Amino acid sequence: MSFTLPDLPFAKDALGQYMSAETFDYHHGKHHKAYVDKLNGFVAEKGLRGSLTDIIRQARADGDKAVFNNAAQHWNHSFFWQCLAPPEGQTPEGRLAQLIASAFGGIDPMLARLKEEAVGHFSNGWAWLILDRDELKITSLHDADTPVVHEGMKPLLTLDVWEHAYYIDYRNERPRFAESVLGNVINWEFVAQNLDGDGVGRADQEAASEAFA
Ligand SMILES: [Fe+2]
Repeated sequence: MSFTLPDLPFAKDALGQYMSAETFDYHHGKHHKAYVDKLNGFVAEKGLRGSLTDIIRQARADGDKAVFNNAAQHWNHSFFWQCLAPPEGQTPEGRLAQLIASAFGGIDPMLARLKEEAVGHFSNGWAWLILDRDELKITSLHDADTPVVHEGMKPLLTLDVWEHAYYIDYRNERPRFAESVLGNVINWEFVAQNLDGDGVGRADQEAASEAFA
């Protein structure tokens, strides 16, 4: 059994200046791939079974940090790529726009709050827009921690704030990275889809048997 690195849902140069092809070469092609490769090593060594989210939850229950970190980072990145889209002036619409307006007063204050969370998060981690029952909330999780193991955290949108996410294009400027990405290359259609509560499932993966690997 082995897990696979998912293809990016767009060409690696499609986000232009906001996230460069070189960043994707490293972030997707090397960092994300390394998590998948390490996870596959554990799958073989420990005989792990089940889907990616099964393995993440079991590793958390067992206190197996090495498996948890690599499996959770595989899920987090698989979700993150889907949150991005080429800069075509997209904005939240419909029910998503209404929920954002009632929770934050509009898209601009919501993005400002998400940027504040991303910038204020100490060291490595992920900033999240989540659905908690019927309410939108903004929070962040440290290192590889993931909504997959948090009851009531239905993921809608995330921003990777590990330094490897922005160092090539923005050097140490996390605030400029957060503002540029959140303001220009978010796939609001994907975010809106996740209002159905199945965001976790959209980055899940079944391990392929070796015959098909
Ligand atoms: Fe990352």
